[in-house]
Amino acid sequence: MPNITFIDTENISQSIDVLVGETLMRAAVNNNIDGILGECGGACCCATCHVYVDATSVPDVPRIGEMERQMLDHVAAPRRDDSRLACQLVVDPSMEGLRVRIPQTQL
Ligand code: FES
Repeated sequence: MPNITFIDTENISQSIDVLVGETLMRAAVNNNIDGILGECGGACCCATCHVYVDATSVPDVPRIGEMERQMLDHVAAPRRDDSRLACQLVVDPSMEGLRVRIPQTQL
């Protein structure tokens, strides 16, 4: 199970082991990671699972899809080049050690 670290805006980090095949959003919600809401349940239509992916931790996260790209226009916190929706990131073994930052707000 890849170990993934969520870092909040206070720089407090929480690391969890995530099942391969599970989305980052589902793993965060199931592990009570504050700041990841996932209100649409992973249907890519709420933008409340916004994260900033630290590309230095894992260089090759799965590529962004068109639906996700469009939904990122609706995130509450500033959209950045490293913005992703956690519900669209399906965890695979190559994501061991991934670090993601949680934005200031999701609403
Ligand atoms: S959970 Fe709604 S867009 Fe990710």
